Amino acid sequence: MGKGSRAHFAQPVSSSDLLSVPVVDGAPIGLYKSQTDAASSKPAAAAVSSSASESLAADDELGGFVRRGNEELEHCIEKTPLHVLITTYLSYFILIVTGHIRDFFGFRLNPEAFAHLRNKNCYAPLNSGFDTFYHRRLYVRIRDVFNRPITNVPGRTLTLLERDSKDYNKTFTLTGTTRKVLNLSSYNYLGFAQNEGPCADAVEAAIKKYGVQSGASRFDQGTLDLHLEAENLVARFMGKEAAMIVSMGFATNSTTIPSLVSKGSLIISDELNHSSLVFGARVSGAAIRVFKHNDMKDLEQVLRDAIAQGQPRTHRPWKKILVVVEGLYSMEGNICNLPGIVALRNKYKFYLYLDEAHSVGAMGPNGRGICDYYGIDPSNVDILMGTFTKSFGAAGGYLAANKDIIDHMRFTSHSNIYAESITPPILQQIITSMRIIMGEEHGNDGRRRIQQLARNSKYFCSELKRMGFIVYGSDSPVVPLLLCHPAKIPAFSREMLKRNIAVVVVGYPATPIITSRVRFCISAAHDMGDIEYALQQISEVGDMLMLKVSEENGEHLKKGNVEKKKIH
Ligand SMILES: Cc1ncc(COP(=O)(O)O)c(C=O)c1O
Repeated sequence: MGKGSRAHFAQPVSSSDLLSVPVVDGAPIGLYKSQTDAASSKPAAAAVSSSASESLAADDELGGFVRRGNEELEHCIEKTPLHVLITTYLSYFILIVTGHIRDFFGFRLNPEAFAHLRNKNCYAPLNSGFDTFYHRRLYVRIRDVFNRPITNVPGRTLTLLERDSKDYNKTFTLTGTTRKVLNLSSYNYLGFAQNEGPCADAVEAAIKKYGVQSGASRFDQGTLDLHLEAENLVARFMGKEAAMIVSMGFATNSTTIPSLVSKGSLIISDELNHSSLVFGARVSGAAIRVFKHNDMKDLEQVLRDAIAQGQPRTHRPWKKILVVVEGLYSMEGNICNLPGIVALRNKYKFYLYLDEAHSVGAMGPNGRGICDYYGIDPSNVDILMGTFTKSFGAAGGYLAANKDIIDHMRFTSHSNIYAESITPPILQQIITSMRIIMGEEHGNDGRRRIQQLARNSKYFCSELKRMGFIVYGSDSPVVPLLLCHPAKIPAFSREMLKRNIAVVVVGYPATPIITSRVRFCISAAHDMGDIEYALQQISEVGDMLMLKVSEENGEHLKKGNVEKKKIH
């Protein structure tokens, strides 16, 4: 890789870079074209390779969006090849056996080093069991690839504070030097993480007027005019009667679900739901059933069984049934089968709770999330939840629903009653970024960001697939690429850092043990040069680490020779 392209991302991105993609005007909800309709469109950028320009051309008039049928969703997760499975399990086996041998001798030969794991003065150790073993013997050895401190806006680039460890990653010291890297790791989907531009200016003005604190919970004295303005805006943006905003996305889920359902009700949850949803479901006291990820047949089976059986022991009917799903699954990069779920909702009459933390702003031709993506009326979803942390460059979460549901939640949600309300600068960031997305401020800026993100994501994902990597998802700005092997987790991250690219690698327990992955986050702040540079480097590292093992995609496969596989 030549210096020229490596230096490419060191240039500051200007707003004109962000706006470098032709604008597509007025593609209203539900009216964007099908894949075949769009086939005659022009390629988007000259810098794009021919295969990429073909795939981009297909979507050009939609700003990168293609309406997908439900059946396509079923092909989004590729099975890991057998030889990769075997070597991955073998590696974990060796790691675990070696760890136990080291512990066995360590406990006996170096007792001081293990004092915190032994009984002391009749107190049981606080850290014990598999958690500490996993932490000491698996996590710490690769800890340098996690939690790297940064010192700038997490935008198109990051400035990393370089650090060093002299005790095999037990502790780190900052070296005093910094390194500028291309950022493929932040949830900055629409590029609103900025310290300049319209949002930053509006936030500065808001701080001058309101200061930085809101003073109390919403239930007490913590409601500013900005809260009311933000809630009205969210309701309008999501196409719902009313909205409530909360200062933390995690708490939005974990405190709302208990205010909706309790003992005698049933929650049916996708197996891959975020931990805030799982936590909220557990706290609620409602019965919980889990269905296979995005599998409509399994969901229907769970529904039928639950309705037929009723509550445990008494067999009375459930008071309420709440189905909880996410719009875009951030570890898989795949999109929920909303049309299928809505069809089941109409048939079985359950309430539907949709978490759009990753999809709001990032998905759909108008950035309004999964309903917008599929052209489904938001009235088909009872509770639309989302966060401001990803696409809006802010913090907190929202709930959008009918007025009676929101009114009920204002009086029952612990977040509304006990938690500090969202602070003025964050409220202003939410308001200004949402207005930009809605086209109510700064002309076409919002639409251009949405389109740039859709194009970047689609091109990035399709190129990785073409190279032969196992990549999950398709249209989404979250692009997970399978690493599997535990040694490849740190190796991939370190190699990318050598090439000045920051990535997030994820392993067990956040993923199943055999499907460790790198999760790229694509942004509208990236330009095509960034994407091309990243692809080139990923390809080199992929060859080095033998990651191009897809049995479904890639130029190494002869067409028609491969059986399509799917996991459910
Ligand atoms: C699906 C989902 N819901 C909720 C949250 C919590 O949001 P926050 O990070 O804003 O607290 C996340 C966080 O990433 C998420 O992925």
